[in-house]
Amino acid sequence: MDKYVLCITGASGVRYGLKILEELSKNNQVYLLISQNGYIVLEREEGIKREDLKSLVNQNVILENCRNIASPIASGSRLVEFKGVIVAPCSMNTLACIANGIAQNLIHRVCDVALKENVKTFLLLREMPLSLTHLENMLKAKKAGCDIAVASPAFYHKPKNIDDMVNFVAGKVLDAFRVKHNLYQRWEG
Ligand SMILES: Cc1cc2nc3c(=O)[nH]c(=O)nc-3n(C[C@H](O)[C@H](O)[C@H](O)COP(=O)(O)O)c2cc1C
Repeated sequence: MDKYVLCITGASGVRYGLKILEELSKNNQVYLLISQNGYIVLEREEGIKREDLKSLVNQNVILENCRNIASPIASGSRLVEFKGVIVAPCSMNTLACIANGIAQNLIHRVCDVALKENVKTFLLLREMPLSLTHLENMLKAKKAGCDIAVASPAFYHKPKNIDDMVNFVAGKVLDAFRVKHNLYQRWEG
């Protein structure tokens, strides 16, 4: 099984992270990190409380404490074994930390380590509108080696509901890691 780290932060759209988790953990081991503010948004948007999360994930998911800076995945010698790090959704706060090499929690540290060890790192951002600071941090993060996307569902596949829109965005993130899925119908011309 390939190994991934999936991080959910306090941006709107935790549903993107949950859908990626569902798909990825079918055939991969996933370390799941949720920031303190991520838990707040998780409860507000999805009605999922921190204490309920463990029972909602399968045996391939390892739920790690975001404050555990001594976690194995905080070290380059372990993170090189991973196929990728995904932050979805990624808040502007977490983007700023990653872009500027600041490690205030395990999510920032894992991204910092992933970039120095050349482990593919994908940030699925969510904010609107974007300030100059946001844009500059995006550019910095891109130059540092991150893959950057702002969650932008398309309409050409004719989504019928919110799930269709979420699946499209989650599917595009998985495409970046060449993970097979059937979350959206591919464009056939
Ligand atoms: C309901 C809710 C929705 C939020 N949506 C966003 C968002 O879409 N993008 C963003 O950058 N911050 C958003 N925030 C603010 C972040 O949670 C806040 O900046 C926080 O410091 C992020 O912390 P983290 O990066 O450690 O998760 C939201 C906060 C709440 C309570």
